[in-house]
Amino acid sequence: MAEQQVLVTGACGEIGQALVQELSKRGGYRIVTSDYMPLPDSIKALSAEHVQGDLLYKIKNFYDCDFDFIFHLAASLSSKAEVATEDAHRINVEGTMQLLMLAAYRSEKYKKSVKFLFPSSIAAYGMPDLDSKRKAGLVKEEEWDNPHTMYGCNKLYCEKLGMYYSKFYGQKHLDEQPPHMLDFRAVRFPGLISAYTLPSGGTSDYGPEMLHAAAQGKDYACFVRADTKISFMAMPDAIKSLLMLMDAPRGKLSRTVYNLAAFAITAEDFRQRALKAFPNAKVTFQPNPRRQGIVDSWPEDVDDSRARADWGWMPDYDVDKFFDEYFLPEIRKRYGK
Ligand code: SER
Repeated sequence: MAEQQVLVTGACGEIGQALVQELSKRGGYRIVTSDYMPLPDSIKALSAEHVQGDLLYKIKNFYDCDFDFIFHLAASLSSKAEVATEDAHRINVEGTMQLLMLAAYRSEKYKKSVKFLFPSSIAAYGMPDLDSKRKAGLVKEEEWDNPHTMYGCNKLYCEKLGMYYSKFYGQKHLDEQPPHMLDFRAVRFPGLISAYTLPSGGTSDYGPEMLHAAAQGKDYACFVRADTKISFMAMPDAIKSLLMLMDAPRGKLSRTVYNLAAFAITAEDFRQRALKAFPNAKVTFQPNPRRQGIVDSWPEDVDDSRARADWGWMPDYDVDKFFDEYFLPEIRKRYGK
């Protein structure tokens, strides 16, 4: 069978590297990557072609590519986006818009729906205050959609753009049978944690930063309060979810955007787990008001029952399995502790 063509933007990021590795393990794909950085060694040999540079200026490189799947991961994350807001909008919204236009055009012209996979985020939510956050329980996709950050606004709007291009673009759904629209699918990720890479520019970064610091015997000053709670997920589960959603038959999907969750824990829970595994670790709390404000606006936990019902989503790692079977064994190997 001919190889299927896949584009992964933001390939050098944490999700990108893990996704490219997993796609390549599955086999059957010609993987094209793009990022403003050169490819790291972890995936250099796995990319058939790497387009390096600002996606908005490089988009024309993709005009003639016959992609079956696009994983659009490139983004400026929440903390970084708050200090360079207009630049973040350009990267997060205009970059997505260009790719959606390209995918919509190709889907229509060649009568083949390009599958467009988009990682949205818990940042799409905005809880007005801590009291509402604590009382909200498991938040559903359509609740509390009033993001407080540029990144969250960008993600929420791009979800809408994806729905528009996949359902209503040119209002062709009214007269064409079947309409050849792009096939947009999105997940709202919680904070992600990898044993191999570190995030940068995000606000959920305190979780992975604390754990990696502890494993290396480095002191860590956590930039949010001890009681701060949001949901997190192991990177292998994040990749599994993207591949499951990619494989899911269109007819099974009752919506375009799905919440995902694995385990909701506090920064103090992270500290306790880190100290248990690495007793010499030193973790203090020095909240940064801006970053605290961002994470306080994110729900403590989300309801992912629709992903479970529609496409069988189920994380492999709850909090105990995350530490005992994934993070700690891998991180010990990595840092030799
Ligand atoms: N992890 C992201 C961030 O902190 C949220 O999607 O910005």
